[in-house]
Order: sequence, then structure tokens, then C-alpha cells
Amino acid sequence: MIIKHKLLIMRIGILTAGGDCPGLNAAIRAVVRCASADDVEVLGIRNGYLGLFENEVTPLTRSVVTGILPRGGTILGTSRFNPTKDENCLAKFVENWKLHRLDGLIVVGGEGSLSAARDLWQKHQLPLVGIPKTIDNDICGTDFTFGFDTAVSIVTDAIDRLHSTAESHHRVMVVEVMGRHTGWIAAYGGIAGGADVVLVPEHPFRISRVCDLLGGRKKDGRAFSIVVVAEDAHPHPDEDFLTEEQTNAIYRHNRLGGIGEALAAEIERCTDIQTRVTKLGYVQRGGSPTAFDRILATRFGIKAYEMVRAGHWGQMAALRGNRIISIPLTDAVGELKRLDEEIYRIAEVFFG
Ligand code: F6P
Repeated sequence: MIIKHKLLIMRIGILTAGGDCPGLNAAIRAVVRCASADDVEVLGIRNGYLGLFENEVTPLTRSVVTGILPRGGTILGTSRFNPTKDENCLAKFVENWKLHRLDGLIVVGGEGSLSAARDLWQKHQLPLVGIPKTIDNDICGTDFTFGFDTAVSIVTDAIDRLHSTAESHHRVMVVEVMGRHTGWIAAYGGIAGGADVVLVPEHPFRISRVCDLLGGRKKDGRAFSIVVVAEDAHPHPDEDFLTEEQTNAIYRHNRLGGIGEALAAEIERCTDIQTRVTKLGYVQRGGSPTAFDRILATRFGIKAYEMVRAGHWGQMAALRGNRIISIPLTDAVGELKRLDEEIYRIAEVFFG
């Protein structure tokens, strides 16, 4: 019997870096499915950029990606390791890149990991393309990142559930959500869940206004309220209800969190309404992606693969309207995509 060996066209790597989010496996699957139809070999780099530094790679074949579409997290693992952080790191990274004879690399990452990809391409000429992912939806140049829709669905579901217990106990429920330095999750989750107040990093808040809104609701006979607060929402600079110690604990670490507790205490003190806090935390990043995120991640994966085949290096897949386009990585990173003012105005219509 003659076994036909097909000619290998190229060997590419794929890695997932930064915080995980639902949809990563859908993107990996899409790349691998396109590649296997073309006889392009795909190496999975484990744990973000760290895998190439530590030489932890694994072949990704069609059978490896079977069944991963609905799975949360990433089969490759992830980390926030940055290969450009010092010269030794970079040298090892490049050495292993050559060892594995990679013709190109697909980086699925958020703002930090895509900034590293931009540097690796611009300053060190490593052929890379990017796919934007993050629950925070804060990457410029793309209308949405995958992971965001799932996070918003989880927040919406939580607010729905909190409504009934808030109503039964006539309480204010403060819901602290993720989003790092932007208010996308808070605003979308707040609008979808029918929040009475939404506090975002883009609009420093005045505690007196929050309490007036909640007190007003009580006077009007609505004895319960939902307040959504983004983890990096700040009080206006001339408000002084947070101590220096609280400010340091909430905002001065890589890991944000705690504004919900401080806010709830102040609301209870000012309004005399029983107030409780729910910090949704990592549940917002876990579990199966929504259909929207599966489709977006799949489309990004296919686009990234096409860019690799065409040699369009230094580009990132992006969603514009309903079209997937490619944009220079330099246009996507460097600053964060702040919450759209129009979306905030919509949330505001329902305050109080
Ligand atoms: O960027 C995604 C995100 O989930 C943010 O919303 C959050 O602030 C951060 O990651 C948490 O990071 P870590 O996983 O390092 O605790």
C-alpha cells in the first residue's frame, strides 16, 4: 500500500494569554480546523507566552479540538507572562521560536498580551497576528471582544435573581462586577438587568446623588433597589467617604475589588435602608460561552488563520458592524476602549 505524505505548507503556533474568558476554545478550534484542511501544522503553546519560553508546546490536531467548542477556559492554559519584559526572556523566547521552526504565531489576548505581540512584531520582526479576547470589552478597533457577551449574560442573570430577594427584604443590593478600568460590563449588565444605579470608572460618582436616588425610590414606594458598581468605579475626587486605607486596598493592587463593600456601608449609613453586597468575581469569566461568543470567537479564529496564510503580519482580527476585518495591532493597543457615552446615557435613563 502506498501511503501518501502530503507536503507540509507551514507550521504555526497559537497561544492564549492574559485572563481567560469563555470562547477561547472556540477560537483555537476554528484555527485548527482551518489548518487541518490545508495541511498546516499547528503547535499549541501552553500557558500563554510562558510556554514558548519554557518549551511547553503540544501538537493540535483535529482530534484534539473535538468537543471543545462549548467548553469554558482554555485547553492551552494561560498566564500573564510577558516575553518582552527583559532581554534574557526575549532571547530564550526567540531561541525556542526558531527551535520549533514556527512560520507564524496567533496570539489570542487582551490589551497586555496584544501589546506584547505588537512589540514582538514591530521591534523584533516576529511574524504574529492577534485575536482580541476579554470579558472587559476594552480593546480598541473592535466593536466587541468575545467573552464579554457571556460575562454580561452572567451579570444579567445574577441581577435578575437579586431582584427577587431585594424586593422581599426591601433592601438595596449592591452588585460589584469586573471590567478592570472600563465600565462595559457594568453598563451592559445594568441595562439588561434593570439596575437603578450604575457606577462606572468613566464617570466618578457622588455618593450624595446615589443616596438621593435610592432614598427617592423608597419615598415613591419602591422599597428595594439594585446598584451595579464596576470594580474600578471611583468616587468623585472631592468626596471623602473612603479612608486612605480603603482607597489603597481597593484600587492600588493589580487585583481590583472592594468598592462594593465600602459603597454599601455608606448607602446604609446615609439612607437607613438595609444594604447587602454581592461581588460576582470570577464567576463572570467561567463556564460555557454564549452562542454569540462562540460565533465571534470562531469568526476571529478563521480570520486570523486567513491573515497568517496571506502573510498579513502585525494585524488583528476585529469586528466592525457585522463584518470581520483586520486592523494593525498598533491601532488596537496603547489605550483602552472606554465605555461608549451613548451606552452610559441609556443606563442613566433608568436611574432612580
Ligand atoms: O481582564 C479580565 C479580568 O477578569 C478583569 O475584569 C479583572 O479585573 C481581572 O481580569 C482579574 O485578573 P486576575 O485573573 O489576574 O485576577
